[in-house]
Amino acid sequence: MKKIKKAVIPAAGLGTRFLPATKAMPKEMLPIIDKPTIQYIVEEAIESGIEDLIIVTGKGKRAIEDHFDNAFELEYRLMDAEKLDLLTEVQRSSSIDIHYIRQKEPKGLGHAIWCARRFIDDEPFAVLLGDDIVVAEEPCLKQLMTHYEETNASVIGVQKVPEHQTHRYGIIDYAEQMGRLYEVNRFIEKPKQGSAPSNLAIMGRYILKPEIFDYLDMQEKGAGGEIQLTDAIQKMNEIDSVYAYNFEGTRYDVGEKLGFILTSIQFALHNEELRDSVIQGLKEILDEETIYMLS
Ligand code: G1P
Repeated sequence: MKKIKKAVIPAAGLGTRFLPATKAMPKEMLPIIDKPTIQYIVEEAIESGIEDLIIVTGKGKRAIEDHFDNAFELEYRLMDAEKLDLLTEVQRSSSIDIHYIRQKEPKGLGHAIWCARRFIDDEPFAVLLGDDIVVAEEPCLKQLMTHYEETNASVIGVQKVPEHQTHRYGIIDYAEQMGRLYEVNRFIEKPKQGSAPSNLAIMGRYILKPEIFDYLDMQEKGAGGEIQLTDAIQKMNEIDSVYAYNFEGTRYDVGEKLGFILTSIQFALHNEELRDSVIQGLKEILDEETIYMLS
């Protein structure tokens, strides 16, 4: 069996949910505290043992390439000022070899992955989506990779979501549950509200066999008129079983405003330097709000 060494991170989306912030800046560069969201994703891939990373970018995404590049002048200044902690942090983001490819038109997630087909060639590979940051003892992707290595089957990371949110995700209709693992009848992209067969949602972590490109090649449009990765996975599942794995860990949704704000607060509360002042600040804000609401 071939080992998983390559990963694709699609980052070509327009980021319309965060306009105007994303007019000139890629949404993947929006920071949670002091680190761009895409760096959390890249670090998860590296900690899982990924050796080769490809980021699929689009128009206006140069800042991502610059971020993961060397910054000699900045590094020199930090060294000169003996700010060694910051220097290590800055160097961390440029220590990885990342390849870039451009998706010329935003035709959907399936199309973005298809753009990486020549880089992947005939190896199984990982996909990590930037809208989900997962904090876990064992990196989420690593959990899926372990499963792949045991079974040689494609596997998709899922977690439970509240019923009223199922229409925002790819959802599984499962046949059988074996611990954290699910045998899947059907993968359905964004089912209509109230029609989802379960509340287990695809959470932006995938291990896929290269045969997925046979299905993505068909370029069929699905939900929202876009070429959907979920639809290609379902087609592959009809021929060669694709499993779902309910991974361990906390997933933070940074792809929409409320999730982004709550993630920033939670990460700040987990940060030793910030924790006490953030609690104090939040208390003051809430007290003021309460006085305002009662007046
Ligand atoms: C994508 C996938 C969807 C998945 C979601 C997770 O949707 O198509 O299956 O559940 O990411 O974040 P998007 O959020 O890009 O519309």
